Amino acid sequence: ATKKLWGGRFQEQAAAWVDAFGASISFDQLMAEEDIEGSLAHVKMLQKTGIVPSNDCDQIIAGLEGIQKDLEAGKLTFSVENEDIHMNIESILTDRIGAVAGKLHTARSRNDQVATDFHLYLKKRLPKIIDEITTVQQTLIRLAEENVETIMPGYTHLQHAQPISYGHYLMAYYQMFKRDKERFTFNEVHTDISPLGAAALAGTTFPIDRQMTAKTLGFSQVYANSLDAVSDRDFALEFLSNSSILMMHLSRFCEELSMWVSHEFQYLELSDAYTTGSSIMPQKKNPDMAELIRGKSGRVYGHLMGLLATMKSLPLAYNKDLQEDKEGVFDTVKTLLPALKVFNGMLSTVTVKADNMKAATENDFSNATELADYLATKGVPFREAHGIVGQLVLKGIQTHQNLQDMSLGELKEASPKIEADVYNELKSEVAVERRHSEGGTGFDQVRKQIEQAKKEIES
Ligand code: ARG
Repeated sequence: ATKKLWGGRFQEQAAAWVDAFGASISFDQLMAEEDIEGSLAHVKMLQKTGIVPSNDCDQIIAGLEGIQKDLEAGKLTFSVENEDIHMNIESILTDRIGAVAGKLHTARSRNDQVATDFHLYLKKRLPKIIDEITTVQQTLIRLAEENVETIMPGYTHLQHAQPISYGHYLMAYYQMFKRDKERFTFNEVHTDISPLGAAALAGTTFPIDRQMTAKTLGFSQVYANSLDAVSDRDFALEFLSNSSILMMHLSRFCEELSMWVSHEFQYLELSDAYTTGSSIMPQKKNPDMAELIRGKSGRVYGHLMGLLATMKSLPLAYNKDLQEDKEGVFDTVKTLLPALKVFNGMLSTVTVKADNMKAATENDFSNATELADYLATKGVPFREAHGIVGQLVLKGIQTHQNLQDMSLGELKEASPKIEADVYNELKSEVAVERRHSEGGTGFDQVRKQIEQAKKEIES
């Protein structure tokens, strides 16, 4: 084994397999770009403040820039002996420019370095996630606009409840994704704080300029407390939590999608491009992508639970446990971006079988509330009206007829207040159209919601 960068006080060396256990290079090399950026910002500050002689800094900067180019070209190789991305880069720098490379780590620790890299990593990815959500929202708005007057059963307890507009259903998800974006946007605020300059835990005696490094790296604030700076992973937990909620939303939609393309429903049909066949059953068209998005919500929840458990009871400040913070976050980013993209593709190519949706609202009792409301409007106390209609539903079940199929004579038997004008109100499209209450499924309300959403998306 080679001598460690920190090997001064050690007489014995760890076995290679022990080193391998402690190493994070296999995954933290994903932050190589951020690590070099962080080092460049740090050395420029060391130069400006005169902490390290200017010509030494020039050599370090040139060396780091060379490494940056080689990274982009895919020419760097990392080693487990050098443990993590921070020491790998420093060791490559030393190979290239010699002992002067050792001045780079003046007034810095890997503890503030790793925290800085991790903040930078997430800070770059959050806008991409927010953009992908916006794309999904645009698709939802377009589909909703086409389907304001598409009538479908609204469900509670998975039982037909009241008819609704399919556009209204779609806009419900628009609203969920809007809050998801707000959560990620708030997450950006907590990710946009620079830990650099906290050093190991206590700050440093060198006259560093934390504002300068923060500015160079594009952070709008610095951590106010050095202990907090190196120990905080709230921003990562927030990310995992926000991601879990987002995946939960996608998963609920995908669950409904999978149900609604089934033979029993046939409300929707997915494009061939987002489905798969069976190796044995020739007729199959499976909603694999929807199922997989639903399934992947599990791993994201797992990463949230994992990091919460890792951090529970961790004493201040840095502990090696914190090395476990990264893989779950990386995997979540790797899961979210394609999941959103596939979801959007699947959604934007869906075929809506409006006739089937509508038909499902006509062979049921989902207009029972309409009849109860009708009686209430005629002065019958709602509770009483509810009872009268309940009796009619029971009769309908026994005689195999829906409310709208009953003769006026039969209806009048239940309540003399019922007149011929009731039949219009029992139509599902009328039941939907008339729900003018704010935020309701009435066509005017859905259109209003869509207009508001369009404004939100533009700004
Ligand atoms: N690889 C480490 C991590 O991911 C970097 C920080 C190491 N610091 C230390 N004192 N061991 O957290």
